[in-house]
Amino acid sequence: MADNAHLQRPPAEVRFADELARLRDTDRAHRPPGWALSLEAARRFIVGDEAAGISRKFVGDPSLIDRSLVTLATSRGLMLVGEPGTAKSLLSELIAAAVCGESTLTIQGGAATTEDQVKYSWNYALLVAEGPTPRSLVPAPMLRGMAEGKVVRFEEITRCPLEVQDCMLSLLSERVVAVPELPGADGMVFARDGFNVIATANTRDRGVNEMSAALKRRFNFETVFPIADFGTELELVEREAGRLLERSGVGAPPRRDVLEVLVRTFRDLRGSGPSPADRLSTVMSTAEAVSVAHAVGLRGWYLRGEPGSAADVVECLAGTAAKDSPEDLARLRRYLEQQVPRRKGTQWQELHRARHRLPG
Ligand SMILES: Nc1ncnc2c1ncn2[C@@H]1O[C@H](COP(=O)(O)OP(=O)(O)O)[C@@H](O)[C@H]1O
Ligand SMILES: [Mg+2]
Repeated sequence: MADNAHLQRPPAEVRFADELARLRDTDRAHRPPGWALSLEAARRFIVGDEAAGISRKFVGDPSLIDRSLVTLATSRGLMLVGEPGTAKSLLSELIAAAVCGESTLTIQGGAATTEDQVKYSWNYALLVAEGPTPRSLVPAPMLRGMAEGKVVRFEEITRCPLEVQDCMLSLLSERVVAVPELPGADGMVFARDGFNVIATANTRDRGVNEMSAALKRRFNFETVFPIADFGTELELVEREAGRLLERSGVGAPPRRDVLEVLVRTFRDLRGSGPSPADRLSTVMSTAEAVSVAHAVGLRGWYLRGEPGSAADVVECLAGTAAKDSPEDLARLRRYLEQQVPRRKGTQWQELHRARHRLPG
């Protein structure tokens, strides 16, 4: 593991290698063909099991995990949809790591995604030297996932051009990749047990509307919702920001009262506070709250040698909450002027006092 010590973010199967090994050793339940764990053990890996020393990684409805795992054991793909920052990518990574021990067979969807990046391409030097042979073939995640019986992740699938989405259709229904250039048996790569696809799509930006109806039929949809409960969200932000700060060499854990103000502010600006008019057009997700808490801790520690304060929250909010929208900046300013003074506590007062630090 020494090699991984300096990686900013190793994949889930590396980060939680010991947990996965322990689950595998004690797993006595039935496993679907080709799976590394039973559904029961995979669920515990994701939602945690305190008694067995398995950490809680995804906070949310455990029945969502059960349904997702059942879908993956069928021949339909799993589509996770939801707002940005609701942990769709994290969940797909965790599920892939649990089901097949590998989460890196991933296609990142975007406007420039091509069929080559989904199926296969060629090593041109070898192709010229010896023609199309299995050696000159460069497999992409779908081909590898099928050949090895693994879970393939397709991130942001709706951002891909429709032609690329369409090429997934036959792959998902026929469960074979044809490589017409290769002669004989090499020209057909059939999917082995354990292969399936987890796709993710944001409901903002380019949403699921952009997905072809034919493709929709090949997936079961699961919606991932933002964390509803304040205490649960606070706990998650505290844990995740604490972990990130430790990795960034910060010697002081984040202050609870500062995080309370931060998480409450995010919820207010999400429109779930007392005044729905405070809602910003930017997505104020839990993932953003974690990254602001991280930045607040970094500011405090590296600028002054102490944990961050509510004044640091104001400094970090402008870049997250307002981005390039003058309307959001105005709403944020109004929130700090009008709503914040109504709240009680020294960190709220400090947040109010620091309001002039907003740029512009
Ligand atoms: N329900 C949740 N459970 C665990 N972490 C969450 C949850 N919601 C948000 N997060 C945080 O958000 C981060 C992941 O966001 P990400 O998976 O990139 O979201 P998405 O793909 O939906 O945009 C996680 O690393 C975690 O810190
Ligand atoms: Mg994502």
